[in-house]
Amino acid sequence: MKKILIVGAGGQIGSELVTYLRGIYGGANVIAADLKPSEKLAADGPFEQLDALDSERYALLVHKYGVDAIFNLVALLSATGEKNPTLAWKINIGALTNSLEVARQYNCSLFTPSSIGAFGGDFPRDNTPQDVVMQPDTVYGVCKVTGELLSNYYHTRFGVDTRSVRFPGIISNVTLPGGGTTDYAVEIYYSAVKGERFVCPVRDVYMDMMYMPDALRAMVELMEADPVKLRHRNSFNIASMSFTPDMIYEEIRKRIPEFEMVYNIDLVKQSIAESWPNKLDDTCAREEWGWKPQWDLSSMTDDMLRAVRAKNLA
Ligand code: SER
Repeated sequence: MKKILIVGAGGQIGSELVTYLRGIYGGANVIAADLKPSEKLAADGPFEQLDALDSERYALLVHKYGVDAIFNLVALLSATGEKNPTLAWKINIGALTNSLEVARQYNCSLFTPSSIGAFGGDFPRDNTPQDVVMQPDTVYGVCKVTGELLSNYYHTRFGVDTRSVRFPGIISNVTLPGGGTTDYAVEIYYSAVKGERFVCPVRDVYMDMMYMPDALRAMVELMEADPVKLRHRNSFNIASMSFTPDMIYEEIRKRIPEFEMVYNIDLVKQSIAESWPNKLDDTCAREEWGWKPQWDLSSMTDDMLRAVRAKNLA
């Protein structure tokens, strides 16, 4: 990767990926693009306003900067998607197909994240295999499976260098996620630091989670991996930790004993969470490109509390 375009750069993943990639590849070589203007993203490198559904402007920017790698991070998340499935399909698939087409026309490699949300139906919840029947119950998941299939199609049919991982819920402290089923595992840290009682929307359900530094490293390591070794492309299971709400609560309480959590179940989020894996088997990612997580629940909790405290929110 030499000239990189990040589309959807203002979101939870994008806002940190821009900084991370600019640190590795140089500020001028990482172009951040988002629907909304952003002074922050323009501070140390190029920023362009872009609606990913506008295929002409998308292609124009790729051409203008001589882009050779694209990260397509545009998506409505699972719970928001259930409120407006038509809009979720339009945005998630529109951004996907425009990204694939522009990557084909300008010979770019393309990363589009998939998710634990791509799973659903009758499949092993524990140690969920890389290759298994996927029948998601959400429009978000339907879009993710479509993304995997279409990305593989563009690779075999047109030779486009498409690559992807199935992200767990991502826990981070720069930009809040919005409308996801796994968001509770970010919000809980903010409540703990602010001294508030946390109202948890899901209960007694395991979901895969990952701390942002591991997620950022995964994207770069996969995109830089030797293509000869990649038997799978779209998309790799990756994992680092899996826990229930009670487990993350207890981990925080070890550090903040007075912290309180109560449940107020959101039925949509609860049923989505129960339709997803408890824990992914990420053997293929480990074997094909050397994936290895560095963070677990305990080390992440120390770091999240430190980072959120440093925001002086209280
Ligand atoms: N974090 C996403 C969600 O909860 C899953 O990829 O929707």
